[in-house]
Amino acid sequence: MNTIKLDDYSIHLGPLGENFRGYLRKGNYNQVFIIVDENTRADCLPLLEKEAGEIPFEIIEIQSGETNKNISTCTQIWQQMMAQGGGRRDLTINLGGGVIGDMGGFCASTFKRGMDFIQMPTTLLSQVDASVGGKLGIDFAEIKNSIGLFKNPLAVIVCPEFLKTLSPRELRSGFAEVIKHSLIADAGQWTELQQIEKMEVSHAVKFLERSILIKKNIVEADPFEAGLRKVLNFGHTIGHALESNALNTDRPLLHGEAIAAGMICESYLSLKKGLLPRDLDQITRFLLKQYGKHDFGTDSYQKLLALMQQDKKNDTAEINFTMLKSPGEALFNQIAKEAEIAESLDYYRQQ
Ligand SMILES: NC(=O)c1ccc[n+]([C@@H]2O[C@H](COP(=O)([O-])OP(=O)(O)OC[C@H]3O[C@@H](n4cnc5c(N)ncnc54)[C@H](O)[C@@H]3O)[C@@H](O)[C@H]2O)c1
Ligand SMILES: [Zn+2]
Repeated sequence: MNTIKLDDYSIHLGPLGENFRGYLRKGNYNQVFIIVDENTRADCLPLLEKEAGEIPFEIIEIQSGETNKNISTCTQIWQQMMAQGGGRRDLTINLGGGVIGDMGGFCASTFKRGMDFIQMPTTLLSQVDASVGGKLGIDFAEIKNSIGLFKNPLAVIVCPEFLKTLSPRELRSGFAEVIKHSLIADAGQWTELQQIEKMEVSHAVKFLERSILIKKNIVEADPFEAGLRKVLNFGHTIGHALESNALNTDRPLLHGEAIAAGMICESYLSLKKGLLPRDLDQITRFLLKQYGKHDFGTDSYQKLLALMQQDKKNDTAEINFTMLKSPGEALFNQIAKEAEIAESLDYYRQQ
């Protein structure tokens, strides 16, 4: 078990084991809630129950999926906590992907003004990305993560064992954030990643710790997104637009799949700006090999650009990007014009 220490909590990487029981004993909690969805109840809860031994739990099951990351699911969670006489001296364990982590953390930190919670991320995406940074929340009025807060958990326990039941598509989607972390901050890891033919759990395990450390270093330098933390948005301005645009089609994209396409387009923009002189081709080839090509036509450009304008991370009417100077080095607050963005979409489509 490796431990990554942050200012006021730790991320434990490895089997659940003693660390987990230690937190339960130390807290001397009145009761323990575990929030799961139907998938993590079936695939992940048995492992946790085995480790918990005699400690009794109240299980709160919600329906999986981003569409349920909303206030009505929160109401369900709060109602169950209320019915059990929940309070500040209880503990919540969020056992699931980013949806459960964000929403369960939000519910736990607002119920009766807040109880302790432990994040137990079970997808690769939530292990390398949502596990650091203290962002909690839900979607509201069709805007992702528009209600929420920054609040750190009591601890994060990243157990790679959980990844074994994840679908290959979900695993590959989470891998996009590992690739992003290497492209913005770790050239050595980028070189190593390119050796991977097809993403497997063993690769994820190999890169987990370094990837978490990259995010930790960035978040610690800029906890409230004043500047540097924006480098984590690499691939996300165009990626989010592609993700939203595909949402109500017969071929929706997973987050990481959209970000992979976004990273190709934003690498192209980097080259256009005189950055990234050598590596565009390699980045494009590797991402296309792993993720294939997402199909969209010029008829979606206007909508995609409008979606990018709406992106809450843009302070002004101009479209703001994080660009790559070279693999391992990113620059935030880079501006691109609509015509240049359209050109980057052309570049992607012509591959
Ligand atoms: N707080 C943050 O900093 C942060 C960072 C990145 C993403 N997020 C949020 O995370 C969410 C996306 O997270 P996600 O990709 O983990 O999606 P998710 O939570 O929807 O999980 C994806 C699917 O995998 C299933 N699943 C989870 N773990 C499993 C396992 N071990 N075995 C089998 N099935 C499993 C889930 O039931 C779900 O169907 C978004 O809402 C996003 O906003 C938050
Ligand atoms: Zn992301």
